[in-house]
Amino acid sequence: MKKNKIILVGYRATGKSSLAKLIAERLGWEWLDTDPLIEERAGKSIAKIFAEEGETHFRDLEEMAVADVLRETKSLVVATGGGVPLRERSRKLLRDSGIVFWLQAKPKTIYERMNGDATTADRRPALTDLSALDEIKTVLANRQKAYQECAHHVIDTDGSSLDTLAQYICELSRSSNNE
Ligand code: S3P
Repeated sequence: MKKNKIILVGYRATGKSSLAKLIAERLGWEWLDTDPLIEERAGKSIAKIFAEEGETHFRDLEEMAVADVLRETKSLVVATGGGVPLRERSRKLLRDSGIVFWLQAKPKTIYERMNGDATTADRRPALTDLSALDEIKTVLANRQKAYQECAHHVIDTDGSSLDTLAQYICELSRSSNNE
């Protein structure tokens, strides 16, 4: 059966939201990002949820938001928060519900993109006590297996334009659906 969800997973600032928007435009589909959805439901920023209720509570809200989004029957491009694949249930749901693309970037690229993104302060609280670059290297290494487990395709985003990547992902989705 053809899958009508294109799902982008990967570490923070690997281009999931920007690409989701471009892919949706190309296909004439809708797109959404799970982070603003969680914030809208909670009535506060992700940084505030982490500070007031802790990371585990945030992960619970995240798991629920992803499950709700994937229950939608319409075609959708979904940009997921970087930690969504941490939970086994979500990994399985992602893989079963759509074509999953794991966006990769080098730690230095991620660091630079995070610093240049105005949403980082409110949406990306620290995940460890490490320095920013060491945190990226460590957490990324710890998550490799989780990303790998749910991904159908791996996309290296370093050195390619968003337009090129969007076109490539659309082509891969088309061929995945025709297999
Ligand atoms: C997180 C990534 C963020 C956001 C939250 C936690 C993570 O989303 O969900 O700060 O654990 O990697 P982005 O991947 O969109 O930055």
